[in-house]
Amino acid sequence: MSRTARRPRLTAATADPHWLYENAVQNPEAEVEFIDRAFAAAYGRLPRDLREDFCGTLNLGCCWIRRRPDNTALGVDLDGPTLDWGREHNVLPLGAAAARATLVQDDVRRVSGPPADVLAATNFSWWCFHGRAELKGYLENCRRSLRDEGMLMLDIFGGSEAQVLQFEERDCEGYTYVWDQDAFNPITHEYVCRIHFRFPDGSELTDAFVYRWRLWSIPEVRDLLLEAGFSRVDVYWEGADEDGEPSGDFQLDDAGDNSPAWVAYITAFR
Ligand SMILES: C[S@@+](CC[C@H](N)C(=O)[O-])C[C@H]1O[C@@H](n2cnc3c(N)ncnc32)[C@H](O)[C@@H]1O
Repeated sequence: MSRTARRPRLTAATADPHWLYENAVQNPEAEVEFIDRAFAAAYGRLPRDLREDFCGTLNLGCCWIRRRPDNTALGVDLDGPTLDWGREHNVLPLGAAAARATLVQDDVRRVSGPPADVLAATNFSWWCFHGRAELKGYLENCRRSLRDEGMLMLDIFGGSEAQVLQFEERDCEGYTYVWDQDAFNPITHEYVCRIHFRFPDGSELTDAFVYRWRLWSIPEVRDLLLEAGFSRVDVYWEGADEDGEPSGDFQLDDAGDNSPAWVAYITAFR
């Protein structure tokens, strides 16, 4: 019997939005590999202490802890119930290693210690900062929070399709993930995106997650990182497989390609 067959049928009334989100959106194993590779390329050794800003359920941080026996993770997020969910479903199952995880409920701009080797802000969460001064203030705090040999990792997406109002549906095991690019203001780049989940019985979890972002570009954030004092900023661009689909393989690049929809990692070194 397959795992899907044993699991009760998902419906909007029974499904757990955090589980649905983690399962559909996150790939922490690939991200911790990327962090090791980018950090080692800069400093010739592996990092140990990770801070995950906008950590949500600390899925990345817990994967980091599982990766090596001395790794630690500090997660910072404003939302208490989300942190509680992460504590129960991700941190406690680590067993004794849970002692290497710390969750802090606060604004990411107000936390600057303990010092980290790597600070990661993923799934475009840093787009919650709309103004230039606001984002620069956040990036300055990231730099302050890092050791002398320290790396900030941000992800970013773009391309012409990012500005198109559209739904993108993807089948997951037992449900459908719906990415809804709902509103875009070409003057301010204010950008509203929503996540919905649909179920085989026809029910839907509408607006399970809603993001009110600014759509930032790579040159804008690169300039701000350098103004915030980072000494070097690199861009890792995702390659394509034989069918032209995103390969999940990110390599250092300074030209990219003019894909209508791209995802990239930005690394900045203290
Ligand atoms: C897009 S989710 C990202 C969750 C997770 N990082 C991931 O990769 O899926 C954004 C998270 O940022 C948190 N958040 C938003 N503004 C924040 C702030 N100023 N300080 C700390 N957390 C914040 C929200 O509570 C939410 O959990």
